[in-house]
Amino acid sequence: METKHIKVKKGPFGRWMDRAVLFLFARLFALIIATIMGLKRKERMSHNNGIGAKGRLYVKPDPKLPPNDFFVEGREFPIRIRHAAATFYDDAMAALRSISIKLSDNTLESPFDMNLNTGKHSLFWNAASFMRLAAMRKQRYGVEYQYWYRYYPDGRSGAIGTLRRHLESYADQVYYSKTPTQWISTDGKKHLVKYRVVPFDDIPETGQVFGDDLIEPENQRILPGETRSRNYLKDEYYDRLKRGETIKYRLQAQVRPVNPDDDWFLVSNNMIDWPEEEFPWLQVAEFEITEPLSWDESNMIAFSLANLPPSLAIFPAKSIYDPHSLNYFRVKAEIARKARWLSYKLRGMPPKIPYDDYRNSSTILESHNKMKTGKFPTWEQHS
Ligand code: HEM
Repeated sequence: METKHIKVKKGPFGRWMDRAVLFLFARLFALIIATIMGLKRKERMSHNNGIGAKGRLYVKPDPKLPPNDFFVEGREFPIRIRHAAATFYDDAMAALRSISIKLSDNTLESPFDMNLNTGKHSLFWNAASFMRLAAMRKQRYGVEYQYWYRYYPDGRSGAIGTLRRHLESYADQVYYSKTPTQWISTDGKKHLVKYRVVPFDDIPETGQVFGDDLIEPENQRILPGETRSRNYLKDEYYDRLKRGETIKYRLQAQVRPVNPDDDWFLVSNNMIDWPEEEFPWLQVAEFEITEPLSWDESNMIAFSLANLPPSLAIFPAKSIYDPHSLNYFRVKAEIARKARWLSYKLRGMPPKIPYDDYRNSSTILESHNKMKTGKFPTWEQHS
């Protein structure tokens, strides 16, 4: 497998160094988010504004898919999902949206978990770029990543593809897993796989951004005169399920063989599409969602790429420049979930997102708390 585009050191010691650096950065990053986001703020690293739900998944693989020992025709699983927005507590902002799926009715344990976001591409392509993005975020009142976008136009166009504003429903979006994982067929052949979740029926995807959002994607703030509430999207989803509606989706996969002549960096890179004529999206399963989870249950749920069967596991990573280092980081970030749960236990569950005028919030009660401290005098006090 050609690896010329991945920065790796030469020789056995160099390779050992690359893996040691990857291990240390992954541990350090996980420790930082576990302490700041998990313990201190009792939050996820991202995607805090969300709603969980449950239902059932039916494996119905397209016969054109190479047979796999997990996704076998006729298998059924209970399923839990969580739709969320990264990273603000305001559904009316321009934001990336997600679905995460778990093939069990548990908060964590499961034979298969997957996280999928809107947009075909991402803002980053390996752990090195991901850490730089985190360092350059500089979020203030709903504006973020302006420096990142200036220096990394690929990240900027990836971000624009993920942003959705004023979407009508979480249920009409297309969500992509982006970073490829393994698909080992029953004859032992290795493949790469990308997943996507689409609505069951062929309906238009609402909420694509246009106009000013294309010029300044860093400004994710609500528009002047916004009438949608901070919770309008979660409410829409919750109300549909409470009325007895069944919301249906399809899980699809794009599978390509691991080919010794391919450039590993290019085929693994979540910023580069695989040609659909050669590697079409094929159905793996159908699932239906019938019951919403409460705010507390939605917060308790956690997904992990460690929850994958051996034939669908993540690929090993060679260095922080390897695209697979992203999945390595995600698995190693498990400690952040543990810290979040510990914080819930010690300090109680996070409050519900209020229907108030503190818009564009990056924490649930950000502005509210600041006003209460009296740190920010009102106009009357100024005069
Ligand atoms: C393109 C790659 C990625 C995708 C598609 C992705 C997707 C997601 C999604 C959808 C969630 C929300 C899960 C939920 O609803 O509970 C999430 C949460 C999270 N992600 Fe990522 N992510 C990616 C990369 C990363 C990377 C590189 C890291 C680095 C450590 C990371 C760390 C986390 C953490 C710590 C959480 C919160 C976990 C928890 O507290 O339960 N993600 N991600």
